[in-house]
Amino acid sequence: MFDALSLHHLPKAEQYQQLAQQARVLMEGESDRIANAANMSALVMHALPDLNWAGFYFYDGTELVLGPFQGKPACLRIQLERGVCGAAATTRTTQLVPDVHAFPGHIACDAASRSEIVVPLVNKGRLIGVWDVDSPFPARFDVKDQSGMETLCQIYLDSVFSIR
Ligand code: SME
Repeated sequence: MFDALSLHHLPKAEQYQQLAQQARVLMEGESDRIANAANMSALVMHALPDLNWAGFYFYDGTELVLGPFQGKPACLRIQLERGVCGAAATTRTTQLVPDVHAFPGHIACDAASRSEIVVPLVNKGRLIGVWDVDSPFPARFDVKDQSGMETLCQIYLDSVFSIR
């Protein structure tokens, strides 16, 4: 089976270039949203340094419900008006949070989390869910991570929604 390699030693741009390539290979020919979400979580968690949680929440029409992830057990349901995930879902913009303690309403699923990035998943104007990644270090994520994570999310959305 596919061997998710650690990319810790590479500069960020290359980490995300490699991750995008690996994600495309992993999702090639598969459109199941759970299967591809599970592999994307495992891929990112194993490849990138300084993470403690990586995974999905899916929108069920009312709130966000926990999907495939890697890390400690997390909150099962998040209302749209709550937390970083809710903010990403309602504004439909990526939330880059350098200090989770300074974010009003942040939900601490894992007390170790210090910074976080949440990318909204939107297909044809419809909210699908969010992709959430946490780090135990402050300011772990920057605009390079944002752009890299957004690309990964687009690869995921294409795998699930593109007619191939
Ligand atoms: N911190 C998130 C909740 C999800 S966990 O980090 C996995 C939030 O504030 O929405």
